[in-house]
Amino acid sequence: MRVLVIGSGGREHALVWKIAQSKLVDKIFCAPGNAGIFQQAECLDIKADDIGRLLDFARKEKIDLTVVGPEAPLSNGIVDEFFHYGLRIFGPSQLAAQLEASKVFSKQLMAKYKVPTADFRVFTDAVEAKKYIEQVGAPCVVKADGLAAGKGVVVAKTADEAKAAVTSMMQEKIFGDAGNKIIVEECLSGEEASILVLTDSREVIALASAQDHKRVNDLDQGPNTGGMGAYSPAPVVTKELLKNILETIVYRTIDGLAKEGIDYRGVLYAGVMITKDGPKTLEFNVRFGDPETQAILPRLKSDLVEVMAAVAEQKLNRIRTLDWDSRACVCVVCAAGGYPGDYAKDKEISGLDVAGAMQDVVVFHAGTKLENKKIVTSGGRVLGVTGRGSTIKEAINTTYQAVDKINFEGMHYRLDIGKRAIS
Ligand code: AMP
Ligand code: GLY
Repeated sequence: MRVLVIGSGGREHALVWKIAQSKLVDKIFCAPGNAGIFQQAECLDIKADDIGRLLDFARKEKIDLTVVGPEAPLSNGIVDEFFHYGLRIFGPSQLAAQLEASKVFSKQLMAKYKVPTADFRVFTDAVEAKKYIEQVGAPCVVKADGLAAGKGVVVAKTADEAKAAVTSMMQEKIFGDAGNKIIVEECLSGEEASILVLTDSREVIALASAQDHKRVNDLDQGPNTGGMGAYSPAPVVTKELLKNILETIVYRTIDGLAKEGIDYRGVLYAGVMITKDGPKTLEFNVRFGDPETQAILPRLKSDLVEVMAAVAEQKLNRIRTLDWDSRACVCVVCAAGGYPGDYAKDKEISGLDVAGAMQDVVVFHAGTKLENKKIVTSGGRVLGVTGRGSTIKEAINTTYQAVDKINFEGMHYRLDIGKRAIS
C-alpha cells in the first residue's frame, strides 16, 4: 500500500513511525512532515490545509490510504473531498468534525443525547454573557465556539477574569470568527484523562488510556500549552471506569450523531474529567491527541494500517481487538525557549542520535527541520522523547535519561511527567 500522512507534528511522526512497521505498506509520504519524519517517509512540500493539492497528489500517486493528523483539514472537509473521488481516507467528515470545530455544536449534541458534561449556556452577545457571569460567579469556564489553536478555553478563578475573556473573545475578536459565539460553563474538578477510540460509527474499539500534561510548568503551573508530555496507561482509568466512559460518553455521542444523520469514522478523542459525580466530558477532538499518540502508539502491537483501512471502509467488525504491550510508555515534550508564548527558532539540536540509540527510547520530532544537513528547531514543541518501561516509574527514568542527552539553546521541559500516575 501507498500511504499519505497529513501533518507535521509529533503526533504525525508517531503515526508515520507506526505505519512504517506495517507489512502492508510499501511507501509512505508525509505532507509536509518534519526532520524526523523525513527518515521514514518522503516529505512533500504541501501544506496540511491545502486540500486541493493534497487531493491532486493522492489521485496522481494512487494513494491507497490517507491519514489526517490535524483538525483543520478535517473541519475544512478533506474527507468529503477524498470520498468524492473514491479515495480511501482515515478521518471524520466535515459534519462529524464539528464535534471539535464548534463547541456549541458539541455541547448541544451532548445535551440532546444526555452525554454527561459541565452545565453550560451559549452566548452570542458579550453583555448578556457578562451578566450571566455576574449571576453564577467564579470559578467558571469561558470557551470560544470555534477552533483557536488550543487557546480558546479560559478557566477563570474570578468573575473579572471570566469577563475579560469574554471581552477578548467577543469584542476584541482575538480568535476572529471563532469567538462569535461563546460558552460559559460550570468549572469541573477532578482528575483528567484522554480516552481515544477508533470507530466506523457501527463498531468502537478503545485505544489504551493516556493522560496529558497541559500546563507549561511542573505541578501544573503556568499557562496552558498544546501538551507538555503524556503517559500511557493512565491508572486512574480502571476497567470499570472505561466501561462507564464508553457507555455514557462515547457510545451515546456516536449514536447521537448517527441519529442526526452523521456517520463518524476515524478516531474520536474524549477529554474527560473524572469528578466525584462520575466522568464528565470536557471536550471532543476528532483526531489523535498530541502528545498522547506518542505515548499510546509505541504500546500498540497490532497493525495500525489494517485497522485504519477497516475504519475508512466501515468494516471495523473485521477487527475484534487490538493487542497491547503491557509495558508503560512516557513522552516528555522538549519545547523551544519562550513557548507557549513567542519562541525562538533555528536552534541546532544536539544528542538526537545518542538518545535515539538508547534501548526502549524513540525520539519523535515535532517542530524540527533540516537545514544544511543539520537538524534545527522550527516550532514551539520541538521533540517528544518517548521511553518504555515495565512500570511507569521505569518508563519515566528511561525517558529522562534520554532527555538528558539532548540539547538546544533555550530548551525547556517538565520534570514531573508521569509522576501523577505513581502517587
Ligand atoms: P480544551 O481546549 O477544551 O481541551 O480545554 C483545555 C483544558 O481546560 C482542559 O484540558 C481542562 O483542563 C480545562 N477545562 C475545560 N473545560 C473545563 C471545565 N468545564 N472545568 C474545568 N476545567 C476545564
Ligand atoms: N493533547 C491535547 C490535544 O491533542 O488536543
